[in-house]
Amino acid sequence: MTTKQVWLEEKKREKVLKNPKSVQKKAFFGYNTVAEDEKTQHVLHHFNSVARWYDFMNTLLSFGIHYLWKKTAVNMMHLKSGDLVIDVCGGTADLAVLAARKIGPEGRVVVYDINKAMMDYGRKKRSVSNFGKRISFLLGNAENITFSDNTFDAAMIGFGIRNVTRMERGFEEMHRVLKPGGTLMCLEFSKPVSPVFRWLYDFYSFSIMPYLGQLIAGSKKAYTHLPESIRTFPLPDKLSESLRKIGFCNVTYRRLTNGIAVVHLGVKKQM
Ligand SMILES: C[S@@+](CC[C@H](N)C(=O)[O-])C[C@H]1O[C@@H](n2cnc3c(N)ncnc32)[C@H](O)[C@@H]1O
Repeated sequence: MTTKQVWLEEKKREKVLKNPKSVQKKAFFGYNTVAEDEKTQHVLHHFNSVARWYDFMNTLLSFGIHYLWKKTAVNMMHLKSGDLVIDVCGGTADLAVLAARKIGPEGRVVVYDINKAMMDYGRKKRSVSNFGKRISFLLGNAENITFSDNTFDAAMIGFGIRNVTRMERGFEEMHRVLKPGGTLMCLEFSKPVSPVFRWLYDFYSFSIMPYLGQLIAGSKKAYTHLPESIRTFPLPDKLSESLRKIGFCNVTYRRLTNGIAVVHLGVKKQM
């Protein structure tokens, strides 16, 4: 063992002193790891660079199917008139717009996201929606939701939890702000079940998607990160297990399009 491997370099030592966690803990960012405390900055930068093209690319890359997934996921929540809903990592507000239709004139949806640029595109959608008045936007981190305990009837998160540095912490926060008996819905990408379909999906994800990302959104990197982050995310049974550990009951999931996307549902236990 060389001295270099035993003794930290001066710069690194200073970093440990200033912020011990940043050197010790790592988080996945695609296939790479970054210091846990820096992941949010990477995620912010990532979505700043794609915000303008985010909706268009989603529609193009999924052949429009993402919209059906979102519609199915919101339907599965069985929202009621007057419900108060939080859309965590709500971005450009697709789920919020769908939920707003379901909650009647007394209901409200809060889009909660760390990225202003993403929400600005969501605000444009709100202005053309018949139910836009029911939607509001709030800037904030999913790991520290700025609402009191037991506030919401439902919490939803679509394609967002993958980006949250401490996933469990994000779910714990959603659990905290839900009223007892409130519903959690998580829509996220996952692993297709059929091997043949999976092979096609992998080929598409790594050989086509990044090039379309470069061609249209000007970022090959962002659209390489996307398939990578999907492949480092827990599979449906593992995710269900985490949700139960956090305190959700009645945890179920449903695969969509052979498992490319999965909807998890859970309920916060009644007191
Ligand atoms: C893939 S987009 C999903 C947007 C939208 N929910 C949808 O289904 O199209 C992920 C969103 O999560 C947001 N995000 C990532 N990490 C976050 C965090 N820690 N707290 C709040 N929002 C976060 C990003 O800014 C981005 O808008």
